Amino acid sequence: MSSKLSTFICQNCGTETSQYFGKCLNCNSWNSIVEEIKSKRSKYQDIKNSKKAIPFNEISSKKISRFTSGFKEFDRVLGGGIVPGSVVLIGGEPGIGKSTIVLQSAGKISLSEKVLYVTAEESLEQVKIRWERLKQDSFDLKILAETNLSQIIEEIKRINPSFAIIDSIQAIHNHEMESSPGSVSQVRACSSELQNLAKDNNIALLIIGHVTKDGALAGPKTLEHLVDVVINFEGDKISSHRLLRSIKNRFGSTFEIGIFEMLEAGLREIKNPSSIFTNKENISGVATTITNEGTRPLAVDIQALVSKTFYSNPRRTTTGININRLHQILAVIEKHVDIKLSEFDCYVATGGGFAINDPSSDLGVAISILSSLKNIPPLASSSFIGELGLSGQVRKTNNLRTKIEEAARLGIKNIVVPKLEEDLNNNFKNIINIKEISNIKEALVYSFRQ
Ligand SMILES: Nc1ncnc2c1ncn2[C@@H]1O[C@H](COP(=O)(O)OP(=O)(O)O)[C@@H](O)[C@H]1O
Ligand SMILES: [Mg+2]
Ligand SMILES: [Zn+2]
Repeated sequence: MSSKLSTFICQNCGTETSQYFGKCLNCNSWNSIVEEIKSKRSKYQDIKNSKKAIPFNEISSKKISRFTSGFKEFDRVLGGGIVPGSVVLIGGEPGIGKSTIVLQSAGKISLSEKVLYVTAEESLEQVKIRWERLKQDSFDLKILAETNLSQIIEEIKRINPSFAIIDSIQAIHNHEMESSPGSVSQVRACSSELQNLAKDNNIALLIIGHVTKDGALAGPKTLEHLVDVVINFEGDKISSHRLLRSIKNRFGSTFEIGIFEMLEAGLREIKNPSSIFTNKENISGVATTITNEGTRPLAVDIQALVSKTFYSNPRRTTTGININRLHQILAVIEKHVDIKLSEFDCYVATGGGFAINDPSSDLGVAISILSSLKNIPPLASSSFIGELGLSGQVRKTNNLRTKIEEAARLGIKNIVVPKLEEDLNNNFKNIINIKEISNIKEALVYSFRQ
């Protein structure tokens, strides 16, 4: 039995309603609601081999054996490699390099595992041209150019690979549904069928999804809760650096990042990422901080430009730092260092525009602002770590030890940090000077000493 049902789905957030609204009640976006017709077929009537519950002691608990993606940086973001039977979603803007990285990875994996690459956006010839440019030397990678979900599923079943790639989820469609490819209901339905297939056959599945300008995974956004791992592929079109960032991972930590460079021959891993976000120049308006993204410490320069304003409302803009965070830091400086910042415009940007999530970058932001304001460089070869509390105190931070180690590894000579819980001064004697401080005023005393 099949009957047609009409439903209204927001193409931005995936909320379903039974009637049309001009504005989505959930995400408030305008004109994003589209009528979609789905043929409803009860899935519960034709279950053939239903599963039985079993006691825990009958489950074998051998460790998950992951296989490598062929890139150490990619493995790191996945939490240590690809887990068989897992579903990974990679989102990113068109042109950022999603097809490139997965094709390189597929090539490497296919040297030891059975791999199927499904391209729904390009012809076999187009992929071949890329393949040759990427200089891959595998002969066993299977490739299928197809947009029809049933055909794709048939082929996955026939080949039974360890690893399958769908490029991209917005380009494939399920003929049983009347909505167009890329609509929320198509994306959802196709993914859940593919996901079931992957889980039942222990196939690791990698799904590519395009994101919209505002950074949301349109359509795929609604998949985030379905899949095991969600990775964003970030970077700007001007610089050649590309970043993989895990925003959800059932098998590893989130915000883990992998850093690459886009070259003619494809993506190349950056072995020492701290070097690309710092300049090691001692100039006014620049302070280095060590952030933690996932489990990796990373040195990043914070640059500030503070100048007398010509506006009644001074300008504040940020790149790589949350704007509200900047407002808060400015308020703390006004109150606790007693400087009237309302007369100044303030622009803050991180090295390479790297998006920092770690609040311990606050102190670096504050020092770069004060350095620009006074036109004095911070203490030479130094870095600044600590979250600023509203009352001007510098709060303790996670993974301080690994951050100090990273600074030392980079040859930085001084590091200003919140009060340590363990005495590390002996560990780092003659390597790096550790200045422990408890509030912003104390930080200033050390930060500009020449
Ligand atoms: N001949 C080339 N030389 C160098 N880089 C190239 C070349 N062709 C494409 N690229 C790079 O690859 C990018 C497109 O990558 P692609 O994997 O197709 O992106 P996506 O799948 O995310 O849309 C381009 O933006 C460009 O940076
Ligand atoms: Mg592509
Ligand atoms: Zn919505």
